[in-house]
Amino acid sequence: MSDFKTDFIADIVLSGGTVVSSKTRFKADVAIKDGLVVAVGEASAMPAAKEVVDVSGKHVIPGAIDAHVHFREPGYTHKEDWETGTAAAAMGGTTTVFEMPNTNPPTRSVKELRQKQDAAKKAHVDFGIYGLLAEDNVDELQGLVDGGVNAFKCFMGNTFGNLPSPSTGAMLEGFEIIAPTGLRISLHAETASIMAWRQERLMKAGIHHALAHIGARPAVVAAEAVSRAAVLAEWTGARIHVLHISSAAELRPLAEAKARGVDVTGETCPCYLLLDSRDYERLGSIIRVNPPVREASDSEAIWAALKSGVVDMIATDHAPHTPEEKRKDVIWEADCGFPGVETQMPLMLNEVANGRITLEHYVKISAENPAKAFGLWPMKGRIEAGALADIAVVDLDRSETIRAENLHSRGKITPFEGVTVKGVPVHTLVRGRFVQRDRKLVPESRGWGRQVTDVQKMPTPEPKNTDQTLAALLHSGSAKTAGGPR
Ligand code: NCD
Ligand code: ZN
Repeated sequence: MSDFKTDFIADIVLSGGTVVSSKTRFKADVAIKDGLVVAVGEASAMPAAKEVVDVSGKHVIPGAIDAHVHFREPGYTHKEDWETGTAAAAMGGTTTVFEMPNTNPPTRSVKELRQKQDAAKKAHVDFGIYGLLAEDNVDELQGLVDGGVNAFKCFMGNTFGNLPSPSTGAMLEGFEIIAPTGLRISLHAETASIMAWRQERLMKAGIHHALAHIGARPAVVAAEAVSRAAVLAEWTGARIHVLHISSAAELRPLAEAKARGVDVTGETCPCYLLLDSRDYERLGSIIRVNPPVREASDSEAIWAALKSGVVDMIATDHAPHTPEEKRKDVIWEADCGFPGVETQMPLMLNEVANGRITLEHYVKISAENPAKAFGLWPMKGRIEAGALADIAVVDLDRSETIRAENLHSRGKITPFEGVTVKGVPVHTLVRGRFVQRDRKLVPESRGWGRQVTDVQKMPTPEPKNTDQTLAALLHSGSAKTAGGPR
């Protein structure tokens, strides 16, 4: 052991904390060197270190991996940019984010991917970049894959940015192209035509109170979209992910697809667990989000599905807008969504304090499962020797009151205004470096964040019905016509 001690000097030892995995927790020190965890164990087994940080009384958990954030750059930087968005993530104990393509311009081809990678050079935390799967960019998908996107996003329903949702035909061809790459396709699973029809009918009737937002997007839009996407995924072998699960109704098609062997994962967000239709009167248009916050019975069903594993993970759908864009008397005029990447962990740790979820289970849904679904496991999502040192040190006894004005996001508005939570990330480390320390952003960590492409490995995919893809048909068609018509 003493030989080991003199072998090398660690950069940091986190000393005296309780390390938590999805299965267990134990008192242990954590040694970090060159961005990696190099030892987890008793103090006597730790190498010497340049810096020993006392974390006694605290819990040491894998940093959260958030598969769903909108950082708005390029195009809407008055709402957010990569610096403010990732600062919010760092403050919230989140060490990796996957960023959505509904920027301006949207991330629809390699050209826009490069623009986004450029904007992301300011990031405090690691990130994946989503490429868009839309009606008009099917021919760009392979380029996006080769160019280095980390996942795809398909807006089956309209939402902020108003990107037209692809026809089922375009979706199928997109799935065919993406399936062999193994990259996951995340779905905004709400059916556009149903919502357009209903919203127009409601608007024409002059109905514009906050609750009408649910009326325009009843849960059947999610159930229908999840079912349809699952059929296409089953046919092509594409991996899919259902974003922001909001309803009991979509849980059945999700569970059934899983049972049929479709490689599908699902996420929910704190607002669907912690808010419901009773909050509309109090919050007005602030609560407007796509899909909508629904009934208390939906929240209960989603909690149960998180427990059973039908819902795999927690994400935030961090969707910042300015207070002026959110506060409207006519619900149809309010921008949809609100910031969440900074408040997710405190809100969920508060549910740990309330006894609604164990800390181990929280580690599973916030870090381990997203790491596995998006190919980051085993380098991310766990605290073990050999993994990247992406860590949140949390104080389960510390209370804080959520205030929009204190958020690092540019979207200074939240439906959780004034909520006092117990449980806060007090340090955040990304690849062994503090990006948040003692509840303060580390400004020098600007630019430390890296795209996850180096560590991402999607397991070998099994595309199906490959002889019937459009590409295969077009190819054999041209071979036939080459011989001339018969
Ligand atoms: C998101 C946004 O503002 O970008 N809004 C929302 O209501 N969730 C888009 C989205 O994820 O649907
Ligand atoms: Zn969405």
